[in-house]
Amino acid sequence: MLPVHLDRTRPEPLPAQLAAAVRRLVTDGTLTTGDRLPSSRALAADLGVARAVVEQAYDQLLAESWVQTRRGSGTFVASGEALPAPAPPPRPATREPSYVRLDAGTPWIDPRHAAGWKRAWREVSATRPPRGYPDPRGLPELRDALAERLARTRGLTVEPDEILVTTGSTDGLRQLLGALGPGDVLVEDPGYRAAVETVRAAGRTVVDHPALAPVIGLAGCAAAYVTPAHQHPLGRVMPAADRLALLAAARQADAVVVEDDYDSEFRYDVAPVPALAALDRSRVAYLGTASKSVSPSLRLGWLVAPPAAHEILVRRRAVTHDTPPWPTQRALLTLLRDGWADKVVRTARRVYADRAPRVAAAMAPHAELAGPLAGMYSTWLTGPASARAARAGARAAGFDLQLLAEYCRSAHLTGFVLGFGGVTDAELDRALSAIADGLSEPPDQPDPLDQ
Ligand SMILES: Cc1ncc(COP(=O)(O)O)c(C=O)c1O
Repeated sequence: MLPVHLDRTRPEPLPAQLAAAVRRLVTDGTLTTGDRLPSSRALAADLGVARAVVEQAYDQLLAESWVQTRRGSGTFVASGEALPAPAPPPRPATREPSYVRLDAGTPWIDPRHAAGWKRAWREVSATRPPRGYPDPRGLPELRDALAERLARTRGLTVEPDEILVTTGSTDGLRQLLGALGPGDVLVEDPGYRAAVETVRAAGRTVVDHPALAPVIGLAGCAAAYVTPAHQHPLGRVMPAADRLALLAAARQADAVVVEDDYDSEFRYDVAPVPALAALDRSRVAYLGTASKSVSPSLRLGWLVAPPAAHEILVRRRAVTHDTPPWPTQRALLTLLRDGWADKVVRTARRVYADRAPRVAAAMAPHAELAGPLAGMYSTWLTGPASARAARAGARAAGFDLQLLAEYCRSAHLTGFVLGFGGVTDAELDRALSAIADGLSEPPDQPDPLDQ
């Protein structure tokens, strides 16, 4: 008989227990191809269960090709080809070394502001959620607060009802693309990788456009995605003439300009550059995010779309209820209303204003700065071998550094993008000297890409 024990106190039904036991006997080699299983009557008697239990187990094993039946002669363990592929042997646990990411998108959040964050969530727990499905645009009081903030900080005058709360910039972009007619999407190159992925996932073709060149034509495009306040990742502010050229091209092609205004609050040399959307609300879709001023993990943003797209999205969201969860919207409301987000931005701006020149001083002997110092990262141009040496230096000290080439599609720029928001001061100092060490060491071998 089979070395099987069934346990009536376990929640799994007896046939499932028996089938699992037979599978185990095959995988551990106790039963091999061609072995005959006991008849259902004999095994049922041996195990003290109803014959139907064994029959059900055998039927299951037959359906999964663990066993075969031969007419009149019984049930046998299936031959090798018929057997389901054995489970792969457990892989030894290999751990990716974990690096502290020097990424461009992680902001610095002052730990002294923890109390405000806690207050926001206490308020959420003490507030009764709205009855029924929410407003398709997002929580009305939050949109009031966002409209006030956009006017005050971005020179953008909008009605609260023109704002759609999203789960972040990429969600805003995804939703917007779903409301536009057919056409390609121009994306800066190098540019924001999440935007590229979002455009592709929407089934649209990405048109590579050199990031620093003016856009003078948008034929065939439904939209152009740009980062005018702080080109991502080259850092440049889009010049006024280029802004006008872009809007003219969009009007001519009946395309929408998507302005991703991801970190414009963090200028520390001049006042934030006004939003492009303030120049032409009918052509520009504005994407804002709480990822820099509150936290990327909150997953909240806002979209101010041109009127036609806005109407489509409101109608659609009224049916799909595709709005961010009420608790996170309600928490952001407290953080905005109590001035918490402004405080975070003010203190973070001071930290970046202190760190950016430190980064510049450490990197300037080795690399050329792209764009003005702003935001929470800076981009450095080098040859490809030096870029890799910088990354190797960073890794040796436990940091992960992004290469500029990773942001390029058709463009051939090399260097690295050094985020300095998501680390402590001590970590930043260590990272900078490790990168500088990497850059000071000549590459071991001439790099074939260096010619
Ligand atoms: C260019 C750009 N846009 C937007 C964001 C923020 O995206 P989200 O709002 O989806 O967090 C980032 C974050 O790093 C960014 O670099």
